[in-house]
Amino acid sequence: MQDSPQSPFPPGTPGGKGEAPSEPLTVVRLSDVCKTYNGAGAKAVDGVCLDIHTGEFFSILGPSGSGKTSCLRMIAGFEQPTSGQIWLDGVNVLGVPPYNRDVNTVFQNYALFPHMSVEANVSYPLRMHRVAKGEIWQRVSEALALVEMEEFVKRLPHQLSGGQRQRVALARALVGRPKVLLLDEPLGALDLQLRQQMQLALKQLQREVGITFVYVTHDQGEALSMSDRLAVMSDGRIEQVGTPREVYFNPATPFVAGFIGKANLGPGTVVLEHGKSFGHWGGLAFPVPASTALGPCVFSLRHEAVSLLEGVGDVSARGTVEEIVFLGDSSEVMIAVDRMTLVTKAPAHVGFALTSGQEVTVSFNAAEVVRIDG
Ligand SMILES: Nc1ncnc2c1ncn2[C@@H]1O[C@H](COP(=O)(O)OP(=O)(O)OP(=O)(O)O)[C@@H](O)[C@H]1O
Ligand SMILES: [Mg+2]
Repeated sequence: MQDSPQSPFPPGTPGGKGEAPSEPLTVVRLSDVCKTYNGAGAKAVDGVCLDIHTGEFFSILGPSGSGKTSCLRMIAGFEQPTSGQIWLDGVNVLGVPPYNRDVNTVFQNYALFPHMSVEANVSYPLRMHRVAKGEIWQRVSEALALVEMEEFVKRLPHQLSGGQRQRVALARALVGRPKVLLLDEPLGALDLQLRQQMQLALKQLQREVGITFVYVTHDQGEALSMSDRLAVMSDGRIEQVGTPREVYFNPATPFVAGFIGKANLGPGTVVLEHGKSFGHWGGLAFPVPASTALGPCVFSLRHEAVSLLEGVGDVSARGTVEEIVFLGDSSEVMIAVDRMTLVTKAPAHVGFALTSGQEVTVSFNAAEVVRIDG
């Protein structure tokens, strides 16, 4: 990172004060942040550098224990980094208590005051900040309208469903109009259908209010469908930051390729033959762009990029069906091809027509094979 504690946003860089309006402004910056909890051996967060832009829906995605909540809690101020710096809107917030940071947090399990009505819950932050009485009601009704909960003002939390309670928690977090809203698996306790409804609602809400959302989840579908950009974390480190398309189609590490979607992954090498670059992988050879780094690497090819229809891609190979797994809307077919097994996602009816041991032709486009540093 270029930053020092004295100059967090050098002029002319994204996040600096003097840049062109089209440049994204950085609202949250983590600069080489580490966290080791008392008594713990390993670092929960290990050298995280991250810029989150104003107004974006940014997700932190990773498996359980990868350090997502720890990052969020340090941004909120509930935890202090062991080393590194955190900046909110250009201000170093090291040592600034949570209530003096212009952020708000929504947790997984609602955290509403059980003895207070919806209205009292949502107005609570405004009353604490001594906002004028006349303004309180207007802002509460606006916040409740955003989450479509206006009719429930008089209810107590136990008289609401899980999804409704979570919407009230959102309204309470939004009513103070924070610069940044931190959300830690806010839909984790909801059933699948409600989760999907709420995902759509949340994304629309974020667009409407224009507040920066930092959304923690271990659900890749959620992160891919909702985010403008996301960070993929593993073992306290950031593996990749990018748009959903970038991390899906151009995974930077084997971990990202394996964690997001389903991919065939394996060691290979890129060599120069008669002035042209070729990838060699498990007995297959295919052309790669001239700019591809030579030498050993890991190759990644998404399951859905492998076809059982001849000639669909520019690389074809004969193989033998090893196994067919029925998944409902599709089938996963494992095919032994030369020195490796390729997995393909095929329509369910294609899977039904296959038997194990059958000879098939697999094909894929060389352009869909991603070279990753091994
Ligand atoms: N208060 C704590 N004291 C000690 N260790 C902790 C504490 N909080 C978290 N950890 C450890 O730090 C690591 C990262 O935890 P964190 O809660 O940030 O992960 P996470 O990515 O949010 O996981 P999950 O998806 O399960 O919520 C884990 O190994 C966890 O056990
Ligand atoms: Mg967590």
